[in-house]
Amino acid sequence: MCGIVGYLGKKNTKEILLEGLKELEYRGYDSAGIAVLSDGEFSSFKAVGKLVNLEEKTKEFTTDKFAAGIGHTRWATHGKPTELNAHPHVGASSYVVHNGIIENYAELKKELQNTGVTFLSQTDTEVIVHQFEKNQQDAANSFEAFKKTIGELEGAYAILLVTKAEPDTIFFAKNGSPMLMGINAENEKYFASSDTPLIGQCSDVNYFEDGDYGYVNADEIVIFDKSGNKKEPHFTKLATNKLSAQKDGYRFFMEKEIYEQSTVIADTLLGRLSEDSVILDEIDSSLFEGINEIKLCACGTSYHSALTASYMFERHAKVKTSVEVASEFRYREPIMTKDTLFVVISQSGETADTLETLKMAKAAGLKTLVICNVDNSSMVRIADASILTRAGIEKGVASTKAFATQVVVFWMLSLYLAKRNNTLRAEEIAAQIAVLREVPKSVIVEDAMHERIKRLSKRYLHGHGFFFIGRDLFYPLALEGALKLKEISYLHAEGYPSGEMKHGPIALADPELFTIALLPEHLLYEKSRSNAEELSARDSTICAISPIEFDKADDFIKTKKHSHYMLEFFEMMLVVQLLSLEISVRLGNDVDMPRNLAKSVTVE
Ligand code: M6R
Repeated sequence: MCGIVGYLGKKNTKEILLEGLKELEYRGYDSAGIAVLSDGEFSSFKAVGKLVNLEEKTKEFTTDKFAAGIGHTRWATHGKPTELNAHPHVGASSYVVHNGIIENYAELKKELQNTGVTFLSQTDTEVIVHQFEKNQQDAANSFEAFKKTIGELEGAYAILLVTKAEPDTIFFAKNGSPMLMGINAENEKYFASSDTPLIGQCSDVNYFEDGDYGYVNADEIVIFDKSGNKKEPHFTKLATNKLSAQKDGYRFFMEKEIYEQSTVIADTLLGRLSEDSVILDEIDSSLFEGINEIKLCACGTSYHSALTASYMFERHAKVKTSVEVASEFRYREPIMTKDTLFVVISQSGETADTLETLKMAKAAGLKTLVICNVDNSSMVRIADASILTRAGIEKGVASTKAFATQVVVFWMLSLYLAKRNNTLRAEEIAAQIAVLREVPKSVIVEDAMHERIKRLSKRYLHGHGFFFIGRDLFYPLALEGALKLKEISYLHAEGYPSGEMKHGPIALADPELFTIALLPEHLLYEKSRSNAEELSARDSTICAISPIEFDKADDFIKTKKHSHYMLEFFEMMLVVQLLSLEISVRLGNDVDMPRNLAKSVTVE
């Protein structure tokens, strides 16, 4: 999703902005642009497509004096991905970049057009710069005009604005979309949508709260809160080690991230397991006092991991658990009772819909917990408690290692609760902990397995659709397998509970319908196999994933013999991830940045 960067200082502003935007590339975008104000003059460049196009356009441009610069990668919401719609948007003497959506833009635009303002783009963002310049005409100074403008906007935004009237200043505002500011000993000021562009450049960062607005110049940092009260910045130290953003010899970040799963799962378990209990120091067990129900809310892959949690929480801890898609939960006027623990799950911690459900739960007085991969993200800062997944930066738009670590956290949490609620015997908990320790080994990618999947993938490049089927915990895995395939191959795929196929979808069965059947040995094997046989009998092409030979399969991916179904779960997760990857590679798609998708979905 859109990314913002800003810089105020004396270094090569163009380079700093472009480097910052590169760090945000993984969020997904379709155009990019920068505007730099130096010596009272603006230079602005925009390009559709990848950042190399913008680099090409700016190659003759350098800045070696004090400058105020803003940059943006755009993921189209209002208006097509064209150069005119790319940010920064220009007025008569100002430029603006914006993430989020201005909900009342149409009405503001109409009023501005009635006063003779001409719009160049189809975006909602452009109203900000024109509204600001309209307000500049009557305001005492540019900050007053900016403040008035922010008060007139409805919706979600992170905004940076630069104007010739105050050439050494960057104006900012944040509401609902992430933004932070960084500083360093050289008196430079940086802005970004996440902390990655600032690592290595800044020593300290201030994460803006919703409703914050203000300005920075060489001498001042001025911030106001949503009630208009001046507030001090709250700086915290920024990590200095930029986690490896390189592909380390892998063809794609997604591939690297699949291979990394063994390590990051080990990291996620580190220090959290003893012989007979799960240790989650980050949460106080009082969080669960008075709780009779758990509600999980998330989007996409995180929603699938939440579904796995619902099986584990009920099975191990005997707590009533429900799972909701965040975008649905928001508007259906849900009943929220205070004996419910509200849990949000998010790799990024910034997904707009999930974040809003968290705010709703807080407002309703529920206790809240977030399972997240990004410390200091909006969700981590808002929730009462958080458990971090330690997957490291995930760059591939198609989530892999984040999902794996989320499931591991949920498994640990279910055992933690089982102990607390006395719902599993001590030996059972100890036995599961022993299995948990085996998970890193179960997700090591073996060459033979990867080669086999590579070879098989050529048979699955066409057809009229895929059904990924599984039962129990393998149903959310089937959903996740189908989502992975859809995202990066652009082939139609659906995840289904194996037992549901005969209630309708089996009507589609023919040789061009590919069924990916998850057949674990230790969880409902006979039943799942019967369901796959029903499809085979109707001529669907079956690719079975199982440790047990299956004679009705057209293709068979043999997994290892494991002692527990959860180890089968993780190995099969690996298989479906690799299968999607190899199909996508053969189709020549952009694996890491698939069309139409964004890594961090910060609009609803
Ligand atoms: O950052 P989040 O986990 O909140 O993101 C939620 C979804 O947008 C995300 O999982 C999406 O479905 C991925 N592209 C899946 O691969």
